[in-house]
Amino acid sequence: MKIDGSVALVTGANRGLGRAYARELVKRGAAKVYGTARDPAAVTEPGVIPIALDITDLGRVAQVARQCTDVSLLVNNAGVMKASTFIGAPDLDAARLEIETNYFGTLSMCRASAPVLAASGGGAIVNMLSVTSFYTNPFNASYGASKAAAWSLTNGVRLELHHQGTLVVAVHASFIDTDMAALATNVPKDSPESVARQVFDAVEAGQIEVLADERTRTVKAALSRDHELIYPPIQEFWDAAVAGTS
Ligand SMILES: NC(=O)c1ccc[n+]([C@@H]2O[C@H](COP(=O)([O-])OP(=O)(O)OC[C@H]3O[C@@H](n4cnc5c(N)ncnc54)[C@H](OP(=O)(O)O)[C@@H]3O)[C@@H](O)[C@H]2O)c1
Repeated sequence: MKIDGSVALVTGANRGLGRAYARELVKRGAAKVYGTARDPAAVTEPGVIPIALDITDLGRVAQVARQCTDVSLLVNNAGVMKASTFIGAPDLDAARLEIETNYFGTLSMCRASAPVLAASGGGAIVNMLSVTSFYTNPFNASYGASKAAAWSLTNGVRLELHHQGTLVVAVHASFIDTDMAALATNVPKDSPESVARQVFDAVEAGQIEVLADERTRTVKAALSRDHELIYPPIQEFWDAAVAGTS
């Protein structure tokens, strides 16, 4: 689909990658860009229409779908990462928040938007996933589980919406230079602008998957040999971290 003239809605458009998505859409000539955020006053990108939305609030998700009936491109960007382990976390709060936001929030947005996109002639959904959809890292284990679930839902939503001509794009990335990755130092990071450009190039080309950086491409290519190629170095690093020597 063409971005020029489209009507887009970006969740979490107040900062980080969501803000870069909104800016790139304006730059590419989208007719309208709705930028949603829990605090709409924080959506300050020029040319973007602020909308209040917590994606975990089902009633509000439905209201926004009724309000924004002209949307042809949904960008499910909003997400949360609590850097929480499976076993060492004090309780299930982080894991529940991540699954509630990254999986159920994304799923709710897809469900509410499906008829709106159908009315626009099909349109497109972009789901912001992660390299951790493909493997588990103990440093953000429950986040990875929520992104794996969101990857599964992305593949399923693509199958279910094929009949109405909706393009469903899965975006996987390693570190991106935003608040979420601030704790990761001395690692290569993609710029949010680079990810946004790749994603809308893919939407315009009708591609269903974006692997945004070399690490993500390497991990996906190694999936069939994950226990040989992916997990041993992570195990070594984690064991050293637990022993306090990394
Ligand atoms: N940064 C990375 O290294 C990286 C890598 C791969 C994938 N991702 C994914 O990229 C997406 C954007 O992340 P980011 O890097 O831009 O992180 P960020 O700077 O932490 O921004 C997260 C955004 O999501 C919003 N959000 C969180 N929970 C929400 C909710 N319940 N309802 C509505 N909005 C909510 C935040 O709003 P508030 O301002 O209200 O908190 C914020 O706008 C996420 O899905 C993330 O998982 C990030």
